[in-house]
Amino acid sequence: MIVRWEDFDALTPSVKIREEIGSAFTGGKDIEVVMRLAKSVHPKRVLEMYTNRGHTALHLASALPDSKIVTLDISREAAESYGLLANGQPNEILPEKDIGSEIKKYSDLAKIIDLRVIKTLPYSVSLLGKFDVVFIDGNHDFEGVHDDTLRALRVLSPEGMLIWDDYWPVCPGVMKLIDFLNGKIGSRIARVDPTRICFLITRPYEAVIMGSVLRNIKSCIIP
Ligand SMILES: C[S@@+](CC[C@H](N)C(=O)[O-])C[C@H]1O[C@@H](n2cnc3c(N)ncnc32)[C@H](O)[C@@H]1O
Repeated sequence: MIVRWEDFDALTPSVKIREEIGSAFTGGKDIEVVMRLAKSVHPKRVLEMYTNRGHTALHLASALPDSKIVTLDISREAAESYGLLANGQPNEILPEKDIGSEIKKYSDLAKIIDLRVIKTLPYSVSLLGKFDVVFIDGNHDFEGVHDDTLRALRVLSPEGMLIWDDYWPVCPGVMKLIDFLNGKIGSRIARVDPTRICFLITRPYEAVIMGSVLRNIKSCIIP
């Protein structure tokens, strides 16, 4: 399913983007969509998989000042010693000292960001508790995004918002996984056009989308 920008814009709360934070991977309308989707569910706790230098964690923190943002990543040292550099986009995996390096530049936002660095494999996220929003932006191979989706589903609260980055031809593994899931669950994952951001349409969100669809239908047929 595709949600058009005009509908998305009308349905979700606006956010103010702190331009000075910038972006390394997810910027422009994409980061705005992630922030607005997250804000729409008033989350207490948000999980980001994975941090890199921390740009997205900072944007999430700026949109959600009353939430706790847990962001995790795997260190290059651990990835090397466990042979993980053969998968995914190995050049994106940073040395431990550089993970979240942007976060410390913003003391007001850093205090609501909880940075976790994975040093041993395999790892689970279940010990981190439940989350109202999980954002997946990691290994873009089919197996990688599949495993991260399984991890996310274990910790997502029942009405939580699951968001994936990178549904675009540069990341065929992500497209394949989303298309596969949509085939199984009846197109319950939507992409916000014209971005690469997809989200699972959960109950409260569905009500909002259906409300808008109903209003459109009524305006067409009721004089
Ligand atoms: C695109 S970056 C994340 C960017 C971050 N969300 C942001 O926008 O600021 C992808 C991250 O996935 C992590 N990752 C975890 N497992 C990976 C794997 N097997 N292959 C590649 N990247 C992996 C990398 O360490 C990297 O930081």
